[in-house]
Amino acid sequence: MPKHRILVIDDEPLMREYVEEAMVRAGHGVDMAGGGEEGVAVFDAKRHDVVITDLRMTPMDGLEVLRRVLAIDPAALVIIMTAYGTIETAVAALKQGAADYLLKPFAPDAVEVAVSRALERSRLAAENRFLRDELRAGQAGTLVGDSAPMREVFAQIKRVADSRATVLIRGETGTGKELAAQAIHQTGARRDKPFIKVNCAALSAGILESELFGHERGAFTGAHERKIGRFELADGGSLMLDEVSEIGVELQSKLLRALQEREFERVGGTQTIPVDTRIIATSNRDLEKAVEKGVFREDLFFRLHVITITLPPLRERREDIPALMDHFLARSNRENGRNVRGFTEETRKLFLDYEWPGNVRELQNAVERAVVLSTDAMLTPEHFQLNASPASRQDNGLVPGMTVAEAEKRLILRTLAHCGDNRTRAAAMLGISVRTLRNKLKEYGMQHRFSDAV
Ligand SMILES: Nc1ncnc2c1ncn2[C@@H]1O[C@H](COP(=O)(O)OP(=O)(O)OP(=O)(O)O)[C@@H](O)[C@H]1O
Ligand SMILES: [Mg+2]
Repeated sequence: MPKHRILVIDDEPLMREYVEEAMVRAGHGVDMAGGGEEGVAVFDAKRHDVVITDLRMTPMDGLEVLRRVLAIDPAALVIIMTAYGTIETAVAALKQGAADYLLKPFAPDAVEVAVSRALERSRLAAENRFLRDELRAGQAGTLVGDSAPMREVFAQIKRVADSRATVLIRGETGTGKELAAQAIHQTGARRDKPFIKVNCAALSAGILESELFGHERGAFTGAHERKIGRFELADGGSLMLDEVSEIGVELQSKLLRALQEREFERVGGTQTIPVDTRIIATSNRDLEKAVEKGVFREDLFFRLHVITITLPPLRERREDIPALMDHFLARSNRENGRNVRGFTEETRKLFLDYEWPGNVRELQNAVERAVVLSTDAMLTPEHFQLNASPASRQDNGLVPGMTVAEAEKRLILRTLAHCGDNRTRAAAMLGISVRTLRNKLKEYGMQHRFSDAV
């Protein structure tokens, strides 16, 4: 078996045979053509790994051969042979996509070196493309869903991806806001630049400010080193401001300026730093109400609100439920080395009827948990704890005689448990701010028990 298939195009028989001999000696299989027209036709039929063509030929010259071959296969490797006087044309050929050129006269070894270099480079390029695609797929996960509302979301993502306009993604907890933010970044022109996240709800105001904008050495006690903020780290790429509603009013004005002017100063710094950072903000809270109450700046709201993508709750797109079930089943099987085959009809019906207050995240957790714990081939309703209808769950744990404060405490603790102790999510589900939740936990003397897992 020849190593690679090479096509040699030259109108001079002696030159053609010289290159042929070198290639055959290197173990390649060779086809030959005495002119451009014939060469392009042979390539079209057989798609050689490498085309080596003379530059100066009539009527079709090497540049035209290059163009036609690339039109047939944009990834084709074309090496141009050229004499000293035409080196500028050879450079032009490189710009138009030639893999390399050979300056005549050349030794047989030089042809082999050029060919293997071209092949190696294209292999690396393909490998990089593959790794990058795989990385992208792995990081972002796929937004599953084919319902009309999800198709509209996909269309919006595509429409905004290439601009650098600020995007606000809204939706209840667990509807896929973070996945959508990643999809915007990875679909757009900035995909090879950084995608940086910051959870605005998880950090106190002071720490959040220096996380976002960085600080100079000595800016405050403990600032031993200069720190580059996430706005700067995301330069050229995208910055996701998760739970943007939780930013304190003071920091909101600094954020507004950074959005408007695309520049800011580090904490304790005087130097103005220009950035080209695309902002993708998410919120699961009623921002309009926050504006009304004066806890969220109206001008910042308008600045963020220009392009808004709203992810619909799962109960409003139940037709996506079967596909999501299958998606998470396959993934949980793969990740846990399980081989659960599917869901019984009853289970499918249960899933379709359930309200899913925690949306896709709740469905995902339910499936993952069942896959890990089940020893059966099929998942039945008994593998899940969704059986209770929303009405019967409401009075769960509530008894007459109990104070409202006690009921509130039970609800808060149960919601926290439901959210895997994640305060941000629990607060969202409860419809209160993280700060309020934190204060409640302090009241119960339980402030240390719950993480702020991001
Ligand atoms: N359409 C979807 N297809 C596949 N997976 C999804 C989809 N929507 C959400 N998920 C998964 O559900 C989980 C929650 O999604 P995500 O973190 O994007 O939600 P969110 O809207 O940011 O929630 P929160 O407001 O609580 O932060 C993630 O594991 C995500 O991968
Ligand atoms: Mg989120």
